[in-house]
Amino acid sequence: MLICKTVSEARRAVADLRQRGSVGLVTTMGALHAGHIALVAAARADHASVVATIFVNPAQFGDPADLAKYPRTEDADLAMLRDAGVAMVFLPTADLIYPPGHETIVETTHLANILHGAVRPGHFRGVATVVTKLFNIVQPDAAYFGEKDYQQLAVIRRMVADLFIPVSIHGVPTVRDDDGLALSSRNVRLTEGDRAAAPVLHRALRSAADTIHAGGTIEEAAQSIHEIVATEPRASLRGLDFVNVADFSPATGDPTDPIGIMISAQFGDVLLIDQKEVTP
Ligand code: PAF
Repeated sequence: MLICKTVSEARRAVADLRQRGSVGLVTTMGALHAGHIALVAAARADHASVVATIFVNPAQFGDPADLAKYPRTEDADLAMLRDAGVAMVFLPTADLIYPPGHETIVETTHLANILHGAVRPGHFRGVATVVTKLFNIVQPDAAYFGEKDYQQLAVIRRMVADLFIPVSIHGVPTVRDDDGLALSSRNVRLTEGDRAAAPVLHRALRSAADTIHAGGTIEEAAQSIHEIVATEPRASLRGLDFVNVADFSPATGDPTDPIGIMISAQFGDVLLIDQKEVTP
């Protein structure tokens, strides 16, 4: 597995890989887990070569303390990517991605600022900007993102469509632990008690989906989420949104079209998010 640290090295490596066929990209911020490896596996199934990036993107963290606490496990990450069959890893520095004097940003002006974006100002602008830069450096045929980061996936799809970026975007289903907790790099920061409590999010989402499948309204589904999260004193619900999958507009009343349920909750100082798409 090749490790590239500059744009020219990465471009040369991708040009070589292209001789063998198409190239899929998995962008990461490291602290890898089985969810990232599922992205690599999906990319490998479709492409001759897979490129991964590891870059903890300062532009998507509002709070410098959150950035400082982000887990960094580069050696283990590289070993996992090698075992997963990645051909090349791009490992840029912050100075390379954001050189002195840089001033260009990419922003989906509506989608970036609603829902999770409203509580994390600048977050999705940071994501869209770095993903555009990584797409321009690697120039893959396709890129793979987890469905757990539901709004992020929608932002990236919108951006790619709006800017005619020639990369096809694939969403990959969330990987969960046996107890239902969605895998996330943040899970390692949970205390033992909070880790045991955190699957309440998945139980709450499942109950809301059951309510809707049984013909219930969005309001009844929301009520069931509130009731289930309230049974877990370690969980503080921070966000709960029901959106129309097509455009992320708020969903209310009797759903007829597919809806996305987006939930976030605080466990100690760790904010976890999860989501579920439901077709009534
Ligand atoms: O999902 C992530 O890990 C990050 O937001 C991404 C897409 C790698 C951009 O920094």
